[in-house]
Amino acid sequence: MSKLDIDAARLTASLEALGRIGAYDDDVTGLVGVRRVAFTKEDGEGRRHVVNEFKAAGLEVTVDRIGNVYGRRKGRDDGAKPVMAGSHIDSVATAGRFDGCLGVLGALEVVKTLNAAKVTTRRPLIVAFFSEEEGSRFGTDMLGSAVAVGRLPLERAYGLTDRDGKTVRAELEAIGFLGDADVRLQPPHAYVECHIEQGPTLRAANVELGVVTGVQAICWHELVITGRSAHAGTTPMNLRADPGVAAARVQLLLRDLVRSGRFGTELRATMGVTQFHPGLVNVVPNRVTATVDIRHPDDAVLQRAEAELVKAYAQLAAEENVTLVHRQSARTPDIAFSTKVQDLVERAAKARGLSNTRLVSGAGHDCQELARLCPAGMVFVPGEYDGISHNPREFSTPKQCSDGVNVLLDVLTALAEEEGP
Ligand code: GLV
Ligand code: MN
Ligand code: MN
Repeated sequence: MSKLDIDAARLTASLEALGRIGAYDDDVTGLVGVRRVAFTKEDGEGRRHVVNEFKAAGLEVTVDRIGNVYGRRKGRDDGAKPVMAGSHIDSVATAGRFDGCLGVLGALEVVKTLNAAKVTTRRPLIVAFFSEEEGSRFGTDMLGSAVAVGRLPLERAYGLTDRDGKTVRAELEAIGFLGDADVRLQPPHAYVECHIEQGPTLRAANVELGVVTGVQAICWHELVITGRSAHAGTTPMNLRADPGVAAARVQLLLRDLVRSGRFGTELRATMGVTQFHPGLVNVVPNRVTATVDIRHPDDAVLQRAEAELVKAYAQLAAEENVTLVHRQSARTPDIAFSTKVQDLVERAAKARGLSNTRLVSGAGHDCQELARLCPAGMVFVPGEYDGISHNPREFSTPKQCSDGVNVLLDVLTALAEEEGP
């Protein structure tokens, strides 16, 4: 393991500096949150900031055709396959400053630490940040990394639209990040990502570090439910075709699927968006658009839950006299991470005296895509306040963050000394 330590204060300062880009006053929490949604002006500003930081650390920067950014540090054996680390810097619209950023700025901190110690690893190191990991603007999560590993065709990704009909390609171009590097990533030697847990498990158990075994299966639907607009005061209830009622029934159905216990105890189901059209107090809506997010650690169980859901959509639409069309906007199976990388993370945690445990990730991560290309794994850092995330209250202490990034340093340097092509 490395004898070096990262600079915790420098890491904290770097998280704070990026967190100021896209900062907004959050009405609900009364806190300052982060809003750096993919390919917005704020994302562009954040990207330029991180690119400058990459360059200041001596990294050679390339941008690919989906806007993924790679910063390369030479190795002693520069033709050997590189070791890669990173994550994302785009955010949901109500974020904190840690989700994704810890993985990118943490990997950059590893580079700065190696630079200061004048250490050159055998293999080159690449620090990456991937486009639209969140998927909350264009409806498909892990967008940039999915294209980089070949799971999603570039042209399909380019054509995705946001709620205003703007395309990925046009928006990427507008912020100046439609790069020209080949989008298909050559398999690195390994990929490692440090990330906040985004859940309560580690903190509740007072465990200092998580060794991530994989990511659960994820399925997203976009629903368009169409009925018939009518006057709210004059139209008898039995003459209505109300898509709002159908949307409400889908939401209850999600809860009932979970409560039924037929999919074990680990099924998660969420309706995160509903939009009523025309959206007026005294008008029965004619159309409701909504989203569904279901997840389970076992892909076979998620498949069964999805099939049941789709059957129920048809039945309740018929009962409510509306049409319900669903589109599967994102779908990833459960992914198991490399046991070699897991063991390295565990060994590094032990060597640093950090209590640790193995756990499956409930959230999706770019690492699940990279795991298709090379041995890949993740380091999880606990979060305060029940590990709340996708919220301005998201917070991991400087010590929690630096523990995770020190382990990242150890694992990256170990991997980067490995023999072979
Ligand atoms: C990514 O943040 C997810 O939705 O899991
Ligand atoms: Mn993330
Ligand atoms: Mn996220």
